[in-house]
Amino acid sequence: MTTRIDWVAESCRLLTAISAEFATTQPFAGLTIGTGIHLEPKTAALIMTLARGGARVIATGNLNTTQQGTVDYLRERGIEVIGGPTSDSAQHDADLREVLAAHPDLLLDNGGDLFARYLENPWDGLLGGTEETTSGRSRLAPLRAELALPILVINDSPIKQFAENKHAVGQSVFESYLRITNRSTGGKQVVVFGYGSCGQGVASSFRNAYGLVTVIDTDPVKRLEACLDGFDVSERDNALRRADIVVTVTGARDILLAGDLPLLRDDTILMNAGHFPLEIDVPALLAHPDVERVTDATDGLQTLHTHDGRRIHLATGGHMANLAGPRPMGNSIESMDLGFALQARCLEAIALGTVAADSVVVPVPRVIDEAVATSYLELVAR
Ligand SMILES: NC(=O)c1ccc[n+]([C@@H]2O[C@H](COP(=O)([O-])OP(=O)(O)OC[C@H]3O[C@@H](n4cnc5c(N)ncnc54)[C@H](O)[C@@H]3O)[C@@H](O)[C@H]2O)c1
Repeated sequence: MTTRIDWVAESCRLLTAISAEFATTQPFAGLTIGTGIHLEPKTAALIMTLARGGARVIATGNLNTTQQGTVDYLRERGIEVIGGPTSDSAQHDADLREVLAAHPDLLLDNGGDLFARYLENPWDGLLGGTEETTSGRSRLAPLRAELALPILVINDSPIKQFAENKHAVGQSVFESYLRITNRSTGGKQVVVFGYGSCGQGVASSFRNAYGLVTVIDTDPVKRLEACLDGFDVSERDNALRRADIVVTVTGARDILLAGDLPLLRDDTILMNAGHFPLEIDVPALLAHPDVERVTDATDGLQTLHTHDGRRIHLATGGHMANLAGPRPMGNSIESMDLGFALQARCLEAIALGTVAADSVVVPVPRVIDEAVATSYLELVAR
């Protein structure tokens, strides 16, 4: 029987093509790549692609997201995986340091965890690497002078912005609403906080499913964009008073506060899609004096019962709804395939020495964006 990992690998068409090419070109022959990235089926496809390119890959996961099935799959195929699923930050720190103890030639970082620790105990021969996230870029940018190595930030590619943040997050947050609540969207009042690339996708996905969407953004330029895109941009508190569904996706904290509870009407559903579980102030909401009791409504959904008889439903405890709750899928395979194709090509360029030494914590080079875009368009051409 094929597994989900096989299904993901087969669906990663860009990585499949790159993998076949790397098997011949061997850009990583004799090189070790160290990584600390979510170990789940989609990253397994990336790691196997790097290994086919000749790399010795030493991998550990991130806090809370490592999947044992993926660890087993990788180990069976010769990948050195340090540790396993853990939510213990001391253990995670030890696992990251064990990856670095192998003195890799390249680092594939996620959140700046590896490069920041490398600076504590640097070694000769590190060629550079990649950083997947915005938060990693923010952490590493002030360290540019010390790092002095080519480090390419995948999140800053326009492809990642529109393929993953806009299209894939929009779809998967909408899919998560359906998966968790099993409720409809037609004619429902949906309030989306944040109109960045993720919020644009979320707002569009709910509108495409016949929701009546209001966008709230602190930036008047973003509000204007939402207005011209045809969304309602009326005032925050009024929008909350009529909301059936509220989604936060701003990257900021304290978007939906305990003080908002009296505004919400019976049966409102609250969801967060922003990275940190701090957009909805869950502890303060649960402790609000209007809340009489809290019950588990269904898997991934809690209900706050207020003294005046309203029921407010909170999805996945305020954690990213598309990566939590029952059977979370995360973003689409195609969007991750595009992002990981950028990863593979960036690591290849650094291994081959074609990235300028002063490209320290900079976006993906345009030439790589163009190559990945062209490959995808060729694959989908009919
Ligand atoms: N769930 C996922 O799979 C997933 C994937 C990628 C990114 N993210 C996360 O989603 C969040 C948003 O990402 P993005 O790329 O859209 O960011 P972005 O910076 O492009 O957009 C954020 C928007 O939120 C607005 N905003 C900030 N504070 C606000 C407030 N108090 N009220 C209303 N609006 C406010 C900003 O003006 C901006 O327009 C981040 O936390 C990011 O890490 C989640």
